[in-house]
Amino acid sequence: MVVEQLAPAQSLERKIRERTARVGVLGLGYAGLPMAVEIAAAGFEVTGLDVNRERVGAVNAGRSPVSDVDGSIVRDLTERDLLRATTDFDVLAELDAVIICVPTPLDDLKRPDLRYVRQATRDIAARLHPGMLVALQSTCSPGTTREILLPTLAEHAAERSLTVGDDYFVVFAPERIDPGNARYTVRNTPKLIGGVTPRCTELAGELYGGFIDQLVPVSSPEVAEMSKLVENTFRFINISFVNEMAQLCDRMGISVWEVVDAAASKPFAFMPHYPGAGVGGHCIPIVPFYLEAVAERNGLVAEMIEAAGRINDAMPEFAIAKLDRLLAERGIDPARARVVLLGVTYKRDVADLRESAALQVLGRLLAQGRAVSYHDPLIPSVGVEGRALRSAPLTAEALRGADGVILLTPHSAVDYDLVVEHAPLVLDTCNALKRYHSNHVVPL
Ligand SMILES: NC(=O)c1ccc[n+]([C@@H]2O[C@H](COP(=O)([O-])OP(=O)(O)OC[C@H]3O[C@@H](n4cnc5c(N)ncnc54)[C@H](O)[C@@H]3O)[C@@H](O)[C@H]2O)c1
Repeated sequence: MVVEQLAPAQSLERKIRERTARVGVLGLGYAGLPMAVEIAAAGFEVTGLDVNRERVGAVNAGRSPVSDVDGSIVRDLTERDLLRATTDFDVLAELDAVIICVPTPLDDLKRPDLRYVRQATRDIAARLHPGMLVALQSTCSPGTTREILLPTLAEHAAERSLTVGDDYFVVFAPERIDPGNARYTVRNTPKLIGGVTPRCTELAGELYGGFIDQLVPVSSPEVAEMSKLVENTFRFINISFVNEMAQLCDRMGISVWEVVDAAASKPFAFMPHYPGAGVGGHCIPIVPFYLEAVAERNGLVAEMIEAAGRINDAMPEFAIAKLDRLLAERGIDPARARVVLLGVTYKRDVADLRESAALQVLGRLLAQGRAVSYHDPLIPSVGVEGRALRSAPLTAEALRGADGVILLTPHSAVDYDLVVEHAPLVLDTCNALKRYHSNHVVPL
């Protein structure tokens, strides 16, 4: 009998097409878990790898550790043996493809902190084998895939005489997920793929094409890495512009919200962005500083990013100053006012506190010794300014007892009829209550 010997690329391609490829997702967080779920739902056997035992335990128990992923889907996939999770990284030796979704925060000096990517790379490199595809999805600076991921893999590959593009395959394919966005999901958000070689891009395209509708192959990992930084920084800068306009409109006594909506009636060359008490989340406030570091390394001062950072950083203070002015106009001494903060997460209906501007507002009010409480249906307690606070029940009595409410994150589970009926003053930093047309509800 003649046993057919396939080259690693052909073998991987065949397994992907037959859905027998075993896929690993490293990092089961806001980016990794939705990806793991989508791949498993497409019929691949998926193993989630994480250093966090609780997350791993939750997935194996059929629960979702991420507010953005429905527990029933996780349960269904684990029951069908399409999804499992582990902290045992030796399983990497048996996987055909691995997708890296580990955190890439900033360090204390606002420089990219790649320690999780480096660790993940070492874990994979030690188990690299012929026919393995490695896709980095964590947000990284241009050059990370080729200069950090690849040399570590190549070192181990050399011991086994494996060559990238022939025996194993490496791509950068940035994560673009928008938690809480029901319209754009893993499946219908186009996927950028930049391989170290054209064959790497092709094979990653085979895999991603199994569960993502539209693929966008680009000529190199660097293009894909840079595109990710540019798309997030575009948002950061546009938000900073409208935040600056919010400050100007406030001085002029006109509504920035009406101005933006009016401008957005132009059917071309304008894209509405809306102001707020700051910019939060794991991506938008962080990624521009990756790009700034890239500019610096290339001898360019990224002036737009610096200015945008200053404007966005000033927004929590602007929101507090506006609240204080409104209180003073009503004859209330801001220093003695009782303030209720609504929503502390960085985004509506997402239980994620990372870089939350609402938390900054809360922290500043506490630091000023103000009488402040918060309500957030997704966050039962928070630690701010060295203090532990619990989410206070939102009752008519509590609202009537407050001098002012500041709405920072408009979760859909909050009873806004109750808020508008009983709060004497609401500063609405997201214009979420405009439908009430109430005199005591003031937009930012
Ligand atoms: N959250 C978003 O909205 C979003 C959007 C686009 C891109 N991204 C990018 O995706 C990446 C992941 O972000 P996230 O929001 O999912 O982070 P997260 O903190 O929600 O999840 C990361 C997970 O990785 C795990 N982890 C850390 N080190 C590990 C290791 N060495 N091996 C295995 N697991 C490890 C953590 O325990 C955690 O469960 C980041 O680069 C981020 O910039 C995130």
